[in-house]
Amino acid sequence: MADQALPLERVVRPSSADDDVFRAEHIAKRFGPITALRDVNLHLRKGEVLALLGDNGAGKTTLIKIICGFQKQDSGTMWLKGEPYAPKSVLDARAHGIDTVYQDLALVDELSVYHNMFLRRERVLRPIPFLNNVLMRREARKALDEIGIHIPSIHAPVARLSGGQRQAIAVARTVSSDADILLLDEPLAAMGAKEGGMILDLIGRLKEQGEVSIIMILHNYAHVFAACDRVSLITDGVVSLDKPTSETSVEELNEIVVEEYRRARQAVMAGELEAEAPQDAGE
Ligand SMILES: Nc1ncnc2c1ncn2[C@@H]1O[C@H](COP(=O)(O)OP(=O)(O)O)[C@@H](O)[C@H]1O
Ligand SMILES: [Mg+2]
Repeated sequence: MADQALPLERVVRPSSADDDVFRAEHIAKRFGPITALRDVNLHLRKGEVLALLGDNGAGKTTLIKIICGFQKQDSGTMWLKGEPYAPKSVLDARAHGIDTVYQDLALVDELSVYHNMFLRRERVLRPIPFLNNVLMRREARKALDEIGIHIPSIHAPVARLSGGQRQAIAVARTVSSDADILLLDEPLAAMGAKEGGMILDLIGRLKEQGEVSIIMILHNYAHVFAACDRVSLITDGVVSLDKPTSETSVEELNEIVVEEYRRARQAVMAGELEAEAPQDAGE
């Protein structure tokens, strides 16, 4: 939550690079009494992998949902390749080249692996619009093989798969789309070390090609330092650190999070003291 203000000097101000593909300035979002985002400034360069970090409830998913057109910010502005960007929906964002792996995955349990991979962008035959299942099966298999993830049957409904396999499908689906900006919300969360390593390898290959730009929410700092060019850390509803990965360290990131806990704890204690303070004697 973002209700205790971070000192102003700690707030990362809007900044940009010549090769930015995406920029967000002064993004704010409330849910009733909860301030999820207060004043977020963030940019993404072409071909870059940006790690978006922050504690649980920091507002990372909210920011991703705003960028991918699922939710609208209360205030603030976004630009895509230099043009003002205000997506009307997830489909609109996708039409602009932004594709997303959601934290809650958005797979349809009853559908097969390959139908899930083509969800809402089904390949159809022409002139009569039947689903082109043969093509979808072939492409789904190819996309999964490229990642190196083994799914025994792409005919099986995804309900039968493990968390890691489901996540692999969600990632493969997004990566095999022709989007040029990928938003990955905790893509490795349900994965074992081996599957996670494969996804990171895939991200590494995409990075080498240099065409796709990625914002990725991660919790494991080892993954951050293995896969990302830069980190943006959200605390108290603002980005409070924005640095190339090569210029920060696990120690620095931990230090910021520990300090955040300390301040949150102090705020709670101050509140308790206030509540315990004797009331005015009155009359
Ligand atoms: N749809 C919603 N309605 C009410 N509160 C929400 C909603 N979505 C998120 N929040 C709240 O906003 C804050 C940020 O949530 P979220 O963006 O999911 O954080 P993160 O992904 O960093 O863990 C949390 O306090 C969360 O409970
Ligand atoms: Mg989240």
